[in-house]
Amino acid sequence: MERLLKQAEKIKDKDLRKRVIDLIRDMKLSNKEFQKYKAEAIEKAASVFAVGSSSLGPVERDVLNHTVTLSEFCSDAVKLFKQQYGLSLNEDYLLAGTILHDLMKAFEYNRDSSGDLEPTGIMLDHTMLAVAELYSRDFPEEVIHIVASHFGEGGPTPPRSFEALTLHYLDTLVSLIEYYHYGKLKLEKQFELLKRQKMQEAGEED
Ligand SMILES: [Fe+2]
Repeated sequence: MERLLKQAEKIKDKDLRKRVIDLIRDMKLSNKEFQKYKAEAIEKAASVFAVGSSSLGPVERDVLNHTVTLSEFCSDAVKLFKQQYGLSLNEDYLLAGTILHDLMKAFEYNRDSSGDLEPTGIMLDHTMLAVAELYSRDFPEEVIHIVASHFGEGGPTPPRSFEALTLHYLDTLVSLIEYYHYGKLKLEKQFELLKRQKMQEAGEED
């Protein structure tokens, strides 16, 4: 959680920074109907991701590393866009949106006693949940838009600001890199297990 709080500390606007930090520290859903769902600890929160055409299949990826990577990336993008094009993006809005865009995945999956990811059965996805929660906590419209549109043009709220476009495309890039990186590690682990199993079987036969 400290790594995420460190990113949130970069938000210059005092009120927005406090709202973001309060939500990270106290992951509770305002709607009483939803309070039966408990958020997984942010350090253990993860989701399952698949790329349609890839034979790597579903791959698990964690929320914390993804969010911290993206926050750093977004801050660099703000600097570059200003330096190269004279374009001024609101870094506070972008950072807040980035930190919060996937946080509600902690309500979509919990870890069981063996550490495996279990869907909680919650009937709203993390984007809908985040938008509802940020709306009820009076977050600025610009931040809610960044979160709502992070799925891109194909989603119900297409990105309509430079901040929203930046998060959507960097999120897509980071997600794909993570998918192939974690997918490769998953395959290597499976291969190692299989090799060990075969060696054991061969040893038993001798
Ligand atoms: Fe994301």
